[in-house]
Amino acid sequence: MRDALIVLSLAGALASCATPQAVAPQPMSPAAERGMQFVTRSCAGCHAVNGSGHSANAVAPPFASVRMRHTSIGLERSLAQIAREGHGEMPPIYMTAAEMQDIVAYIESLEPVAAAPGDARAQRAAL
Ligand code: HEC
Repeated sequence: MRDALIVLSLAGALASCATPQAVAPQPMSPAAERGMQFVTRSCAGCHAVNGSGHSANAVAPPFASVRMRHTSIGLERSLAQIAREGHGEMPPIYMTAAEMQDIVAYIESLEPVAAAPGDARAQRAAL
C-alpha cells in the first residue's frame, strides 16, 4: 500500500513536470523560420542576428535591439529603404517584398533587448 502511494505521488510529480512545457516559447512561424535563414546568410556577417551577443561589426545594431526600437511597419519601411539604398557601410541588398516580410516576422519573434554596450550608434538612436 505504501509503495502504491509512492508510485502515485511520483506519477503526480511527473505530471506537474510536464505542465511547464505548455508555456514554453512558441515554435517559430514558417515565415520567421525563412527570415532566420535569410538573415543568417546575408546579415550575420555584421549584425548579431540570434537575439543575443555582440555584432561582428560594432556599429551594426544587434537585431534584438532593432526589435525593441521598431514597430513591424517601421521595420518593413526601413528594410525597403535598405534594400534600395544600402545603409551605413553596406551596399544595397536585394530583397523581395516576401523576404522582407519573413525578416520582419523573424525579428519580431526575438526577445527585445536594449542595445549592448559598444553598440554606440544603436544607443544614440535609442535616446
Ligand atoms: C556589411 C555590414 C552589414 C551587413 C551585411 C548588414 N548590415 Fe544592417 N547595418 C549595418 C550597419 C553598420 C548599420 C548601422 C547603420 C547606421 O546606423 O548608419 C546597420 C543598420 C541596419 C538596420 C537599421 C537598424 C536601426 O537602428 O534602425 C537594419 C534594419 C539593418 N541594418 C538590417 C540589415 C539586414 C536585414 C541585413 C541583411 C539582409 C543587414 N542589415 C546586413 C551593417 C550591415
